[in-house]
Amino acid sequence: MAVTKKKAAPKKSNTVKLKFDTSWNYAPAPESKSAATIHKQYDLFINGEWQKPSGKKYFDTINPATEEKLSEVAMANEADTNKAVTAARNAYEKVWKKMPAKERGKYIFRIARMIQEKARELAVIETLDGGKPIRESRDFDVPTAANHFFYYAGWADKLEYAFPNRQASPLGVAGQIIPWNFPLLMAAWKIAPALATGNTVVLKPAETTPLTALKLAEIIQEADLPPGVVNILTGAGETGASIVNHPGIDKIAFTGSTEVGKLIQRAIAGTNKKATLELGGKAANIIFEDAPIDQAVEGVINGIFFNQGHVCCAGSRLYVQESIAKQVIRKLKDRIETLIVGDPIDKNTDIGAINSKQQLDTIHKYLNIGKKEGAEMYESSCPLPRKGYFCRPTIFTNVAQSSRIAQEEIFGPVLAVLTFRTDDEVIEKANNSPYGLSAGVWTDKGSKIFNMTKRMRAGVVWANTFNKFDPSSPFGGYKESGFGREGGLHGLMPYIHLTHQS
Ligand code: NAI
Ligand code: MG
Repeated sequence: MAVTKKKAAPKKSNTVKLKFDTSWNYAPAPESKSAATIHKQYDLFINGEWQKPSGKKYFDTINPATEEKLSEVAMANEADTNKAVTAARNAYEKVWKKMPAKERGKYIFRIARMIQEKARELAVIETLDGGKPIRESRDFDVPTAANHFFYYAGWADKLEYAFPNRQASPLGVAGQIIPWNFPLLMAAWKIAPALATGNTVVLKPAETTPLTALKLAEIIQEADLPPGVVNILTGAGETGASIVNHPGIDKIAFTGSTEVGKLIQRAIAGTNKKATLELGGKAANIIFEDAPIDQAVEGVINGIFFNQGHVCCAGSRLYVQESIAKQVIRKLKDRIETLIVGDPIDKNTDIGAINSKQQLDTIHKYLNIGKKEGAEMYESSCPLPRKGYFCRPTIFTNVAQSSRIAQEEIFGPVLAVLTFRTDDEVIEKANNSPYGLSAGVWTDKGSKIFNMTKRMRAGVVWANTFNKFDPSSPFGGYKESGFGREGGLHGLMPYIHLTHQS
């Protein structure tokens, strides 16, 4: 009897690639890079001037969409931190603290206006240095940063109205450490309320995205802000740690990973330093069966794929009511197929570059974890540029509540979809997370919105919308998402001492 060799069964895979329809390609519409001046090299901005780093070291910052070097920036060491803190202390004692509040306000207004004047240049630099689509840096990051300065400029001489019958006094020198996902906006969130309340600042941008903070230093110099009121030190984790550990710092404001947030808390324990920490998140977006489905799907897409999912409040977990799950998942898959991934400087691009090789590796690690855990993975079939760090928008279905892709922050364009039947069940599941930064609820019923917002352990709960920001609204987390609030009246509190007026 002839033995026929059995054909090996095709390897079962739980990855499904969706089909990309190439008949709808848009013609390229790149924003002009000529609007941006990027110097070859940047020094440290200390005491109102550009100073060489004591260690004479510089590091490259690249464009993650092309892997090309954009510039090199100074690496600040402890001696530089010392200089910056001394400059900030002198400026605080001799000038800024004593200045009438309405005069301080004028400087902050001036910075706000200059950000508006240079909006286009800032947007282009933000996109080149960080990889986010120009549409986002142009329409969201830069205008929102200017609005923060405008908003807090307005408070500078009105603190007695913000805190009636109490006297608000500044803390001193604030050490501020910011991440790479919203570089200019995070600088604005940190600097504006600190200055409005009479503090001076030593700020460190993230090592992969220092350029808009350095452009802001140029603006600050041009605005004639007294020397030393804002100092900007570039560098990596060690530079950040030297700021955290410096005895001349009165307050730390940090946005970044939960891991570093914990290190900072340990480092300042037993000192008089105040702190606000804005850390990671794993936001639940919840769609009830009575929700306007198309609007909800669009909101979910915006919630997770906005800025490549490099958003601490990204809606990375979707809970959809069982009765509409099939329909919602179908619409989500169709929608990701139409998202344009590619050159961030192109105005048509929806999803730009992942910020760094390291972050792309982290995302890939989680894609593998998701597959190994048995979830079903759908990724868009869009082509990816050959150079640069890119990732297709990806959806996991059949995800267990306990799986790592439903529990841990991925910080990439990856959505985990889970289902639920009742209100109580979804509240239990949504709150079952080490994080508690934000959440979203989609329903037609006002009473359901109130019930959910009351019971959800998240700093911000959006209803029938997602990722909406306004300088007058406070933002901040519960649990491992950190503590303290930024934005709004609440955002003044971490920068002041309050005493009762006699
Ligand atoms: P990271 O927490 O290391 O970086 C944030 C900032 O902290 C940077 O300016 C960095 O130079 C500084 N830093 C690092 N080590 C420090 C230390 N020991 N002391 C003081 N400052 C220090 O974040 P990383 O490694 O870039 O990203 C890792 C993960 O963190 C991401 O995958 C994401 O999950 C999360 N993340 C969350 C952010 C948020 O907005 N909440 C922002 C950035 C990252
Ligand atoms: Mg860069």
